[in-house]
Amino acid sequence: MQFVRVIDTISEFSHVLDLARRDGRTIGFVPTMGYLHDGHLSLMRRSRNECDLSAVSIFVNPLQFAPEEDLASYPRDLPRDLQACEAVGVDVVFAPPVEEMYPEPTLTTVSVAELSERMEGAARPTHFAGVATVVAKLFNITGPCRAYFGEKDYQQLVVIRRMVKDLNQPVEVVGCPIVREPDGLAMSSRNVYLSDEERGAAIVIYRALQVGAAAIFAGERDATAVARLMADIIAAEPLAALDYAEVVDADDLRPITSLEPGSRVRLLAAAKVGAPRLLDNLGVEVPA
Ligand code: PAJ
Repeated sequence: MQFVRVIDTISEFSHVLDLARRDGRTIGFVPTMGYLHDGHLSLMRRSRNECDLSAVSIFVNPLQFAPEEDLASYPRDLPRDLQACEAVGVDVVFAPPVEEMYPEPTLTTVSVAELSERMEGAARPTHFAGVATVVAKLFNITGPCRAYFGEKDYQQLVVIRRMVKDLNQPVEVVGCPIVREPDGLAMSSRNVYLSDEERGAAIVIYRALQVGAAAIFAGERDATAVARLMADIIAAEPLAALDYAEVVDADDLRPITSLEPGSRVRLLAAAKVGAPRLLDNLGVEVPA
């Protein structure tokens, strides 16, 4: 069995990847905040299958949490995460302490306008700047690579793609499908916060997305009506507090009103179920 190499300094991580590239090896990189589940592991498997060396970062990034959010209580279990990385054949784990990533308050922020402002950005105004800033740092530290992101955080994926394009970062962003529990709930590190009753109710978000998609396949072409249908389903669940249910252009997240035949749209919803805010989304190609 090959043992995963765990690195906690920026200089060593960069050096190991530089050496690999010098040997002509391709690098796959999977940024995470740890507490790994099958969703994260699916990205790692894909990286391992497509790249010569697979690196994972495990770093709970303070910048992307607002002061009232769950930074302190965000679930963490590094020993278990390392075992999981090893089991899927990850070569290197970068798990820096906060002081290594932020030795002094960062004065530089990467923010991706427009794409960061609606949906998750409306609920969490500083969130995507925190994500884009840490991911830009991680890309600089990692160097040229293929970087794997889940569609689970669809808006994040679109924001990162745009950052890479705007800043000419030497990274190929690969979007990967959402991994779900057997009943359809999208896997998330925050699902551990759900009580049994809330866990039962949480499935309403995916159900709403499925009903929205079914309406489009049945001929509905009014995007506002689809969004309202999804919102009503989530609002009818007493344990869920709806945040948003939207139908947007799949590429640029532009809100749309009319569903053009052949267009690619994304249905997205977020709701608080008990303590955690849960997100989910579904891609639909509008039938011609
Ligand atoms: P985290 O929530 O740990 O997620 C790490 C990666 O795993 C993200 O790309 C996310 O979309 C993906 N992921 C999570 N659940 C998934 C699921 N059920 N199916 C498929 N992929 C899933 O996202 C972050 O961390 C952070 O914002 C980060 C990008 C690491 C920056 O700090």
